[in-house]
Amino acid sequence: MSKVRYLEPLPEPIDVAEFRKVVHSRRSVRNFTNKPIPAETLNDCLNMAMLAPNSSNLQQWEFYLVQSADKKAKLVEACLSQNAAKSAAELIVIVARTKSWREHARLVLEQWPQAQVPKLVKQYYAQLAPFYYWQGPLNSWGMVKKALTTVSGFVRPVPRGPFSQADMKVWAAKSVALAAENLMLALRAHGFDSCPMEGFDEVRVNKILKLPKDAFVVMVIGAGERTPDGVYYPQLRFDQQKFIHRV
Ligand SMILES: Cc1cc2nc3c(=O)[nH]c(=O)nc-3n(C[C@H](O)[C@H](O)[C@H](O)COP(=O)(O)O)c2cc1C
Repeated sequence: MSKVRYLEPLPEPIDVAEFRKVVHSRRSVRNFTNKPIPAETLNDCLNMAMLAPNSSNLQQWEFYLVQSADKKAKLVEACLSQNAAKSAAELIVIVARTKSWREHARLVLEQWPQAQVPKLVKQYYAQLAPFYYWQGPLNSWGMVKKALTTVSGFVRPVPRGPFSQADMKVWAAKSVALAAENLMLALRAHGFDSCPMEGFDEVRVNKILKLPKDAFVVMVIGAGERTPDGVYYPQLRFDQQKFIHRV
């Protein structure tokens, strides 16, 4: 038996029918009423977004609430003037960072929620995280890691990345997309709706938000109350059989 590290209180039973209602009623909404999302509701949704699982708990996300009229107009244009952006009560730009991990590794150790930081945790954030996530100048360390991994991979299972800035983008985007989904489901649970958008001009959005160099936009979410004609088509998903492989 493994050593008990911590006992999380058991979760309360959950009404699956209510959860199903949230998941099933979430649709990409392209037309919103002008009802605002109350600040505390939006805040609650953002808190739930930030509870998404994320790689190494390094919390690679940032959420830009674009609320000034001037920036909002520019962002709508950068979103190719899509209706989902034009009519949205809120525009939230979901951003991933590939270089915030070092600061966040330090914060994990500083803000650890127990009196003592366990030795394994200390080792992970002080040594292993930099080993995995630092790629070195001109990707030099990434290339060394790749070579070392290829050799040791012949004899034992090893993580095959991230070894480059491109890998780091995929690494960050995975976690950040999960936060985006949490955000959209939380909005739905509060009676609001959303539309995720990747139809935007990335260069223009970066400029509007003055994003740091290691930041990139994963998606822009338009949010608000749906109009009766806000969902354009019935929902379509292919048959489970096509996607589920039991091996
Ligand atoms: C990463 C991503 C990017 C998307 N980009 C857009 C977009 O730019 N404009 C849009 O109207 N819908 C966009 N969508 C919404 C999809 O078209 C939609 O999720 C899909 O058609 C399924 O419909 P449903 O969300 O109502 O189930 C995007 C969805 C995702 C996940």
